Amino acid sequence: MALRPIITAPDPRLREVSKPVEKVDDALRALMDDMLETMYDAPGIGLAAIQIGVPKRVIVMDLAGKDEEPEPRYFVNPEILDPSEEMQAYEEGCLSVPDYFDEVERPARCRVKYLDYNGESQVLDAEGMLAICIQHEMDHLEGVLFIDYLSRLKRERVLKKLKKEQRLAAAS
Ligand code: NI
Repeated sequence: MALRPIITAPDPRLREVSKPVEKVDDALRALMDDMLETMYDAPGIGLAAIQIGVPKRVIVMDLAGKDEEPEPRYFVNPEILDPSEEMQAYEEGCLSVPDYFDEVERPARCRVKYLDYNGESQVLDAEGMLAICIQHEMDHLEGVLFIDYLSRLKRERVLKKLKKEQRLAAAS
């Protein structure tokens, strides 16, 4: 396993639409292992492959609390079915938009169809934080970031700040 660098906005790769995975094999499992390790190290609760620059439809997640046993989840080629009409507002953050949090509204419940770590087909009914997190990560596969749901003014302010920090980091 290896840590991979996480790319941050406004890196144009984050706007790419990720491609479906053809086969869940050892190479893909190695990618998922790296993603999980990178996510734990950050630390974060969810990571899409494009966030380490790999445009594949793969997500890893772990929503276990600090004092709980780790509960890694892997989603390959996930699809969202039956999103609820009821919406839920949640304060979101993203490893690709560091140090910024804001409230986003999403369907409160959804069903997710996906392939697991072993390539088996699964269906999961998600609600609460799990539903929110899955939808946030799914957006990454379409090149969408949570700041896209905010006002243009807010989004531009966040991106401007990130660009400035990246310039300072590159210069130092
Ligand atoms: Ni994110």
